[in-house]
Amino acid sequence: MTRRLTLCAATIAAVAAAAAVAASQGPIAGMPAAAPAPRAAPPTYSKDVAPILQKHCQTCHRPGEAAPFPLLTFEDARRKASKIEDAVGDRIMPPWFADPHVGKFSNAMGLSAPERDTILKWIAGGTPEGNRHDLPAPKAWVEGWSIGKPDLVMELPTPFEVPAQGVVEYQHVIVPTHFTEDRWVVAAEIRPTEREVVHHLIAFVREPKSKWFRGQPAGAFFTAPKVSTDEETEAGALPSDFLVGYAPGQPAEILEPGQGKLIKAGSDIVFESHYTTDGKPELDQSAVGIVLAKAPPQQRHITTTAISERRFEIPAGNGNYEVDGEVTINAPAKLVWIQPHMHYRGKDYTLTAVYPSGETITVLKVPTYRFDWQVGYELATPLDLPKGTMLKTVSHYDNSTANKFNPDPTKNIRYGAQSWDEMNVSFVGIVVDPRADPTRVFNAGRGAAAAQE
Ligand code: HEC
Repeated sequence: MTRRLTLCAATIAAVAAAAAVAASQGPIAGMPAAAPAPRAAPPTYSKDVAPILQKHCQTCHRPGEAAPFPLLTFEDARRKASKIEDAVGDRIMPPWFADPHVGKFSNAMGLSAPERDTILKWIAGGTPEGNRHDLPAPKAWVEGWSIGKPDLVMELPTPFEVPAQGVVEYQHVIVPTHFTEDRWVVAAEIRPTEREVVHHLIAFVREPKSKWFRGQPAGAFFTAPKVSTDEETEAGALPSDFLVGYAPGQPAEILEPGQGKLIKAGSDIVFESHYTTDGKPELDQSAVGIVLAKAPPQQRHITTTAISERRFEIPAGNGNYEVDGEVTINAPAKLVWIQPHMHYRGKDYTLTAVYPSGETITVLKVPTYRFDWQVGYELATPLDLPKGTMLKTVSHYDNSTANKFNPDPTKNIRYGAQSWDEMNVSFVGIVVDPRADPTRVFNAGRGAAAAQE
């Protein structure tokens, strides 16, 4: 609950200006009644609003999903009208933070300006229902697995007990796959059993050669020990291929035809989970479901922490500290997905691709980064990364008192896995030739290698 409230408060402050503009353009209720000028009737729920809620809200706002209330019917929407007015007017909802002028993303959740306007006008016009014959057919939602029936389900070995209050450190648990041969995955999905407390969850593939968390026994929850230098410099195997992540509203990983993710024989799944408390004790036993390829893929899909800058120290009180990251592409690849990851002081993020020719394009811009919402951005068109291309990130951090989320503005902050430390990581999804050696695709820049986080 706290998470929700702080999120809303800060976002409201951050977008106050935008809201003011929206408000001044929005309502027409104040027009004199006698005005003879023809004016469009206010939008109605049935004809105008329901299709927008179906398209942009119901993925999360329906029973069993991440949002705390449904938006499936006229009554649902009418009852929440004033909250919707705030959340939509202030651009808190849907939770999507990419600059709309940069790049095109196939999982984009933002409302277009006319859609936002329609919702706000409907509310200003008194939330008329309109004619029920205009209602769109209800959307058929797939309950349960959205990847279809998984070939394999691996769940957390035991339910995790989330306490009623306090901060729960990131939990890790190792689950052996017991695969005796290499397997290709075409779809994967994580389903929590207690969504209210799951902030995010990631299932990593740990290859047999990886030293990551080698000292930890399988099957038991643990918190990450401090990363040793030995592990940090490890280059022998791809240590942290990201199989799939879960965050509210993020779709399951369903690869394009011909693509596959490799799980080598003898690999383990390492779950990393971030739980938040909601005022009462809860149990979660999330599971990952996997659909295996029926034929060898033409492209290998890899998701890894290719860009990870660890050498920084953000001075206490600094409101706009810049951290840059970069990586060079050593073997031809295509960029398909990107997820910036910082903690509470993360403020904004930009990713550019610098081609060998010198040409530079901006791939993703997140003007207002939110730790509360771990959003992955899926490129609508895969971006060619010829050998020699550099991916560069520029991020800013707010370590001042102006940042409401800041756990402690009096401290200099360095790299660390805990929420009160900071990170500067880009999870990067690429596709490569299935025979390519993935450890050679990225040539680490100033930061660490494609190391585990
Ligand atoms: C990606 C999932 C997702 C989508 C899509 C989404 N919501 Fe939400 N919504 C949430 C969650 C989760 C919360 C609870 C807030 C939190 O946990 O921070 C929420 C909260 C809200 C709230 C309450 C805010 C408050 O002040 O309490 C409103 C209103 C709302 N959503 C409206 C919408 C509308 C309207 C849309 C579509 C235009 C939408 N949401 C799309 C997940 C989503």
